[in-house]
Amino acid sequence: MQKQKILITGSNGQIGTVLGNKLIDIYGLDNVILTDIAENNHKNGIFEKLDILNIPHFKELIKDYKITQIFHLASLLSASGERNPMRTWNINFNGLLNILDLSKANNIEKLFFPSSIAVFGNTTPKEYTEQDVPLVPDTVYGIGKVAGELWCNYYAKRYGLDVRSLRYPGIISYESMPGGGTTDYAVEIFHYAVKNKKYSCFLEKDTVLPMMYMEDAINATIQLMQAPSENIKLRYSYNLGAFSFSPEEIYNEILKHIPEFEIEYKPDFRQNIADSWVKRIDDSRARKDWGWKPKYNFENMVEDMILNLKKLYKIASNKEQVGLII
Ligand code: SER
Repeated sequence: MQKQKILITGSNGQIGTVLGNKLIDIYGLDNVILTDIAENNHKNGIFEKLDILNIPHFKELIKDYKITQIFHLASLLSASGERNPMRTWNINFNGLLNILDLSKANNIEKLFFPSSIAVFGNTTPKEYTEQDVPLVPDTVYGIGKVAGELWCNYYAKRYGLDVRSLRYPGIISYESMPGGGTTDYAVEIFHYAVKNKKYSCFLEKDTVLPMMYMEDAINATIQLMQAPSENIKLRYSYNLGAFSFSPEEIYNEILKHIPEFEIEYKPDFRQNIADSWVKRIDDSRARKDWGWKPKYNFENMVEDMILNLKKLYKIASNKEQVGLII
């Protein structure tokens, strides 16, 4: 087997930060090229500053490092994407088209494209949402993900590109912060709880959304990318689920560990986005095709988040290093 050389875009992001480290563990320090438009936030590894819209530079990196796999994580998220729809479309969608084309032209062996629960919209059934359902999203981020999925499928069918994709739910982690998403509250709430501060939640208390712990999201990504090609029956994107909860449910679960924690609800424009998404995911295709199974349930996730954040806040002499948000 040819030695794998992996390039990650958006390596500073919520998922990129953790996935980058995991890929380095698996493939070695010299075989993972971390890239981002911002300055490097990783302690280890090879880093290159890269604007995904700069095609000549992207091509140069592929050639110089003899890249065989790309994990394309760079994008603007659902809430921040609404500030400037055309810019969001350009980065999220044209960025992907560049990478599909570069992958084809440079014989990239495997490409990963993250899709999202943002592909769903008001016409999608909300409970145990199946794989193939109406997709009419309200956000420009969601529109880019639907179009992106279709183009991935097209490149796979028409050109034989080995492209693989997951519809991530909201991802919860203690190692990195999300930024600009509608599910961000589910990470922020833990930082406030651990620091004993009252949390002001930007969603209504009964808004249920699908979520997942970071370790499971990373494992799913690696498992999908390492699965034999013939097991990947869907080349647009697989539904992926673990558990679902509302702000009130997670607040009550955190109370079991931190009884003095307080919350208030002040929904903003993100409420409409959350209302247009689904509540629970049916991910049976992923389970059947390549053996997906999450390790964490809701209760384990809450316990592990609190344990790890308490440790991190204790270690950090300067609290800014951990929380970033309060
Ligand atoms: N977590 C993302 C967001 O809220 C959805 O993919 O935008």
